[in-house]
Amino acid sequence: MNSMDDLIQIEWPDYNKNRIGQLIICEGGICGKKEKGAFPNPIEKMKEILLAEGLKKYFKITFSPCLGICLPHNVMLAITPKELIWLGMIRDAKPYDELMDWIRSSVKEGKMLPLPASLEKHRFDRFASVK
Ligand code: FES
Repeated sequence: MNSMDDLIQIEWPDYNKNRIGQLIICEGGICGKKEKGAFPNPIEKMKEILLAEGLKKYFKITFSPCLGICLPHNVMLAITPKELIWLGMIRDAKPYDELMDWIRSSVKEGKMLPLPASLEKHRFDRFASVK
């Protein structure tokens, strides 16, 4: 059995490949499903933008069958080098456009910029009830 010292001495290679951030979009259960009362996630459009504008090399979008907190609908988790940003309660296309603008601007700057003020209302504290 390894001691804690053995585990701490692992040298991790840089797996990141120049990406400045990641967005995990829930596409399962009641998230982003019109038939479940949610606004349909514009996943294909977002992928097309990443590819067409060369953003994919610097920002990753992945998908999850569930992020574990389903009721806000359209749940997403933005991962930046500084923070985890939980987003939800999205009911129309505008916040998705604003997300893509945020990603675009961040890639242009070479680092994740602060979440735009317009998206703050969609931000929630995932673990607020256990603090
Ligand atoms: S179905 Fe989206 S968070 Fe669970």
